[in-house]
Amino acid sequence: MPDESHAGDSKGDSAGGSRSGASVDTVLGRLVVEQGLATHNEVDDCLKSKTPEDSLASLLVKGSFVTPSQLERLKRVVEAERSGQQIPGFRILGKLGAGAMATVFKGKQLSLDRTVAIKVLPRKFSSNAEFIERFYAEGRAAAQLNHPNIVQAYDVGKAGEFHYFVMEFVEGSTVYEQIVRAKRYSEADAINIAIQMAEALEHAHSKGLIHRDVKPKNIMLTRSGIAKLADMGLARGISDKEAAEQEAGKAYGTPYYISPEQIRGERVLTPAADIYSLGATLYHMVTGNVPFDGKNPSDVMHKHLKTALIPPDHVNPKLSAGISQIIEMMMAKDPRERYTSCADVLTDLRSVRAGDRPIFARSEVVAADLSTLAAEAESASITEIPIDRFRTPSPWSHPLAQVFVYLLIVSVIANAVLLILYLS
Ligand SMILES: Nc1ncnc2c1ncn2[C@@H]1O[C@H](COP(=O)(O)OP(=O)(O)OP(=O)(O)O)[C@@H](O)[C@H]1O
Ligand SMILES: [Mg+2]
Repeated sequence: MPDESHAGDSKGDSAGGSRSGASVDTVLGRLVVEQGLATHNEVDDCLKSKTPEDSLASLLVKGSFVTPSQLERLKRVVEAERSGQQIPGFRILGKLGAGAMATVFKGKQLSLDRTVAIKVLPRKFSSNAEFIERFYAEGRAAAQLNHPNIVQAYDVGKAGEFHYFVMEFVEGSTVYEQIVRAKRYSEADAINIAIQMAEALEHAHSKGLIHRDVKPKNIMLTRSGIAKLADMGLARGISDKEAAEQEAGKAYGTPYYISPEQIRGERVLTPAADIYSLGATLYHMVTGNVPFDGKNPSDVMHKHLKTALIPPDHVNPKLSAGISQIIEMMMAKDPRERYTSCADVLTDLRSVRAGDRPIFARSEVVAADLSTLAAEAESASITEIPIDRFRTPSPWSHPLAQVFVYLLIVSVIANAVLLILYLS
């Protein structure tokens, strides 16, 4: 392992001495052997036949030990290992991906010989002392959590200039990838995942942790179908609103799931913020649409604050009324009108899964129904007036017509009298 104070030196040699301790050839040779692409002896032979013009990399390709595309992949791993992502006690095995805030590597924890995921923060966060303090505090708190539906946090630390977060490695995909692939989930499958996430959040909330970034990308799915909430306890370097704005143009980015109170920049968040984001995630899963879309992040955030939600069953008529009511209650704009706890969300989700009506969302909806009916009744009495106004009046109701009728009757009577007199 190179000296951690040298971590961060990614540029330098192409073949020889590395300031981070291991040369490119050393790391590449080791990886090729580890991955079964060549034996120790074959790598040694290549190194012996090396000339100043040839690197080990080119010799491995020439000797058909690796293909050019395999070499490209290996070079990225070598680069990761030799750069700032070198962490004492861990061996980097490759890059898993990168998000808006960090890069995630697959690694091996050497002491326990287990595969882990290591999230490495960019250097720009190192200068923000408040953020770093929060990163460690939340990282330690997250490491106290232990739940089958939460990606287990193992460790937080610093190597060179880089702060990192070590966690359970999850082999599989994310809800985000599934939505991209299949557009939407069946109601039953979505409820199944939402229940697991509500259980995870209930556990975190009971320990005083609010996730603040529940979204499809942060729900990992194992090959056996277990859903795991990722990034629990990962502090943000910037406010939620700024983070959301930075995601400009990113499909399925944070603004699609962010709670109104986070948009308002409220510092003290309650479990209701996570309930809103889980509701928004569930909305996306069952309808195939994000709850609010817009030209830019601030447009989307404005809608979270002001625009009424299109009920999920209006977007996807196949949905049960129950799931729609649950999502609407989870996504109430006023946190006081949402579920007060994930335990209540779970009660309703389980009820709908069993084919029954939700308990909590129903009472809300009955109240909503009553107010809708009252509003309808009110508007009906208003609209009766124009209907009456436009009703065709009886011709006999006009005063002139009444005079005409009166005269007609008088003249008939007068004529009758005259006729009688004439005949007699
Ligand atoms: N514990 C893990 N095990 C396996 N892969 C992981 C793990 N955590 C993250 N990843 C993968 O690493 C990638 C980057 O994750 P990261 O959390 O940095 O970003 P994100 O959640 O995808 O996006 P965003 O930056 O918007 O939060 C993702 O593609 C994810 O699949
Ligand atoms: Mg993530």
